[in-house]
Amino acid sequence: MAEAKDAVTAAIGSGDIAARFEHAIAVVREAGRVAMDYYRRVDELVVESKANPLDVVSIADKEVEAVIRREIAAKFPDDGYLGEEMGIDRGKNDCLWVIDPIDGTACFVNKMPTWVISVALMVGNEAVIGLIYEPNGDELFAACIGKGATVNGKPIAASQVDNVNAGVMGVGMSHRVESAALVPFIADLLDREGMFIRNGSCALMMAYAASGRLIGYFEPHINPWDCMAGIVLMREAGGWCNGFLDAPNVLEDGAPILVAGPKVADVLSEMTGVK
Ligand code: IPD
Ligand code: CA
Ligand code: CA
Repeated sequence: MAEAKDAVTAAIGSGDIAARFEHAIAVVREAGRVAMDYYRRVDELVVESKANPLDVVSIADKEVEAVIRREIAAKFPDDGYLGEEMGIDRGKNDCLWVIDPIDGTACFVNKMPTWVISVALMVGNEAVIGLIYEPNGDELFAACIGKGATVNGKPIAASQVDNVNAGVMGVGMSHRVESAALVPFIADLLDREGMFIRNGSCALMMAYAASGRLIGYFEPHINPWDCMAGIVLMREAGGWCNGFLDAPNVLEDGAPILVAGPKVADVLSEMTGVK
């Protein structure tokens, strides 16, 4: 862990992170243009199912991930990648780009605009850059370690509400876990006069939490490409994040995710059992 921190410090000190941040912003915007071209003719796409009928993928997901990898490699050839569609490919240095080319694919293929491109950079075990681009609304959420978080260049901050009934909570769910992993939390939230929303994209809801639009986000199991950029955004926006990065084998197996505004973090942690 100390070695990882040293790697991060050295990388930040050398300006490498800032250069990657600037380049990655241009890359996700380009990826957004490619994804939008597919979205506009979504009826023509062949949609395949993965683990279950609701876990879908199309050529758009694969092509967008290929574009992101190609554009990053053009400038930083030694960096590695972990992408939902193309798997892990360790580079020659400590940098690992964690990519979900389209988060919210079930929305994408059913003509609903709540999908995003999510790109994060890890240096060693630390997440240092988070970019979430929502092309339909042209909102680019961006954060770099120690530099704060923005949407389209304007600073954003996590919610400051102090009660779960004072704002909307984002939730996510997949068939990777049993319904019992989520249902008791929803019941508890409703009993406390709170409310929830699920829009089909974990990354977009985490960006909304980092912007204070949602009070937080909970999903009982999530993969690293879904949430890595959101973790950086939430931390840089002054929000709280659970110990996702410290979970065993998290890059392979995933873990629960909980992010929250600082004043509701304790109660949401207690309600979900996620630390
Ligand atoms: C899914 C979305 C969804 C979340 C799932 C993810 P995909 O990713 O983020 O909101 O609840 O756990 O798998 O398949 O749209 O990239
Ligand atoms: Ca995803
Ligand atoms: Ca995806």
